[in-house]
Amino acid sequence: MELKEEIILLTPEGKRSDGRRWDELRPIRMRVGVLKRADGSALVEMGNTKVLAAVYGPRESHPRHLLPPDRAILRVAYRMATFSVEERKKPQPSRREIELSKVIKEALEPALYLEEFPRTAIDVYTLVLQADGGTRTASINAASLALADAGIPMKGLVTAVAVGRIGDQIIVDLNDLEDKYGDADMPIAMVPVTGEITLLQMDGTMPPDLFEEALKVAKRALEIIYNEQKKALRERYLRIKDEVLGEEK
Ligand code: CDP
Repeated sequence: MELKEEIILLTPEGKRSDGRRWDELRPIRMRVGVLKRADGSALVEMGNTKVLAAVYGPRESHPRHLLPPDRAILRVAYRMATFSVEERKKPQPSRREIELSKVIKEALEPALYLEEFPRTAIDVYTLVLQADGGTRTASINAASLALADAGIPMKGLVTAVAVGRIGDQIIVDLNDLEDKYGDADMPIAMVPVTGEITLLQMDGTMPPDLFEEALKVAKRALEIIYNEQKKALRERYLRIKDEVLGEEK
């Protein structure tokens, strides 16, 4: 018989596998404007999950007759680097990557004014450099920063986080272990300025009263992440300002 090491997701003292409290987010690092060639870009780290996003467009795309005459099309490609996970990921796009590309596109689209750029395409690429749970939510956070960096008009940034459940304890910002062995994983994306929820998925089960609580907990976490996004954008503008002023001297 194979002996399996027991996985403790929550200690009796309320500590999670990585030492966090139930409502604690992982350390967040965000930097906007990391790629010179892209129109917009961002690097987002939620603990050990690291995602790079690049945006190109609005730009012409061929064949032109396939582009709608009244709006831009948004294309999203979510990919995992072969080295981003423990077991090497095969380079060809998996079904999961194709599905997540669609999920991320649908989470971003409601925040954009696509009708302002008829007959063009906006391409969003998100690349997971290191995966430790929550790569779709980190991708949404990075992509929305990269869209803003590209100067694409938006109703507001899109902010995302996953909440979940271990027994009757709600937890926030799940890592890989919690995603795999927890009782529920619920990724949520929202446009904080409008309050519109653009993504809500559920893996596992969540009793109705806990669902309400999870939503409240998620909103508090989203507020924190949204503030980090605004800070990263502000830092980007200050760097641009410094560069411009430097050139004028
Ligand atoms: O990453 P996210 O939570 O949005 O999506 P998921 O499909 O629920 O994947 C959860 C986690 O499983 C990822 O973040 C990775 O850490 C891990 N994973 C992996 O180790 N190998 C893969 N091929 C895919 C996912």
